[in-house]
This record gives sequence, C-alpha cells and structure tokens, in this order.
Amino acid sequence: MSRDAAIGVFDSGLGGLTVAKAIRERLPSERLVYLGDTARVPYGSRSGRTVVRYARTCGRYLAQDEIKMIVVACNTVSAVALDSLRVDLDIPVVGVITPGAQAGVRATKNGRLGVIATRGTIASGAYVRAVSAESSRVEVFARPAPLLVPLAEEGWLDDEIAHATVARYLEPFVDDEIDSLVLGCTHYPLLRNTIEAEGARLFSKLSVVDGAEATAIAVDELLVQYQLSRQGEGELSIRVTDLPGRFSEVAGRFLGEPVDRMEVEQVDLSPS
Ligand code: DGL
Repeated sequence: MSRDAAIGVFDSGLGGLTVAKAIRERLPSERLVYLGDTARVPYGSRSGRTVVRYARTCGRYLAQDEIKMIVVACNTVSAVALDSLRVDLDIPVVGVITPGAQAGVRATKNGRLGVIATRGTIASGAYVRAVSAESSRVEVFARPAPLLVPLAEEGWLDDEIAHATVARYLEPFVDDEIDSLVLGCTHYPLLRNTIEAEGARLFSKLSVVDGAEATAIAVDELLVQYQLSRQGEGELSIRVTDLPGRFSEVAGRFLGEPVDRMEVEQVDLSPS
C-alpha cells in the first residue's frame, strides 16, 4: 500500500464532514475521499441490520479505489458495523466510538460520563462497552438526542429552539451528576456552543468532548504505525449518493469551508 493512497471517509450523509474537517486540520497532507450516503440518510433511526448492510456497500465502494485506510465518520455505523467492515476490507478501519470514549474517560474527573447520540448508537451499547474497555472506574449515562440532527442541518444552532432542545436533552443528566459529556453523533459539534452554554447553566461544571478531534489523532497514530503518512499538499474529494444540490448548501457549515456544488460528485453504490 502506498503512502500516496487516499483515506476513505464515509458517513450516512454530510455530518461526517465534521470528522473530515478534524482530519484535514491535523493531517493537511493527506488526500481524503469522502462518501456521504445521502440517498439513505438517516442511519441513526434504522435497525442495526440495515445499518450494517448500508455500511458494507459504502465500505466496498470506497475500497474499489486505492485507499490506504477507512475512517467510519458515522457514530451509528461505528457502533454496529465496525466488525463487519473489518472482515470485509483488507485495510485498517478506524471508527469514531473508541477515540470518543477514550477522550471522555480522560475528561471525567468524577467518573460519571454522559453520552448523547442517535437512538441506534445508544441502543447498541457501543459507548458503554468502549468506556468499560478503557476504564473500570467510569460509569456511563447514555441517552439519545435525535432532534439535534435536524437542528444542525437546518442551521438552528444558537437560537431559542436550539437552547430549549439542548436543555431538554441535558436535564435528565443532572441527577446522574455527570461532569463530562461525549458528543456521540457527527452533527452535535455544530451545537457545541449551545451545549456548553446550557451545560454551564445546568451543571456546576460540564466538559464537552468531541470525538472528531480524538479520531483524527487515532488516524494520525495509525498512519505513523503503518508508515503510511503522506507528504505534500492534501486534497478532498466529496461524493454523495443523492443529488448534490442541497448537500453542497449545507456541507460548508460542517466542513468549516465552502463546498462548491460542482465539486460534489453523485455516485452509485453497487446494489446492497
Ligand atoms: N451520522 C449519524 C451519526 O453520527 C447521524 C445522522 C444519521 O442518523 O444518519 O450517528
């Protein structure tokens, strides 16, 4: 495998661009191929079996090109399909749950860690397992926060609806006495300021942990370990499975830089 090969990054839609952004910031020399399965989004409300089936088609699609690693940017896929992808694909596969859980374990001082994510991710128990693999002193309190996904896509990040919704999702954690909260979904980092503001209002102290940055560090470490780090100028190519129009409009917010509609390519995945 060559250092020059790209890293494949995929997600159910555009949310995974928050992970692509973190990878680009940490590893600006890498070439990224991003696949958003916008024709089948959302994954977070679907059964584990369906998500595994969808994820395998995304993984196989990306592996047709010269790819040196796959980053599963979607928490829901990372929660239920990582093992199947590792069986299918002959290259390292990195998910977002373990790095996020490890960052959460490092953040909590009182050993009481909150996690918010999609229903699918929470139902899988993946964060609970990942945290307990890391530390026996940390207890996890995990709850779904599904409405934060459409809020992030709509761009309602800091208004009264965003604050009220975030507060409603955070309130049950007050009795759990958490001191740290993992954002276990691709979309939630966009609402980070609002989550921190409501966290400061409801808790004596709440550290908010975004797994995207921790994932980028894990990717970096793995590239170094396999001697696959690239030099030179990096690039990003974006592919989606539905029409790119709306995607391009919203994607810039997630990627932190404008996304030109002409640069987003629509692709067909092989039948699932
Ligand atoms: N990308 C998904 C995740 O991180 C959120 C959107 C969806 O439900 O597909 O879990």
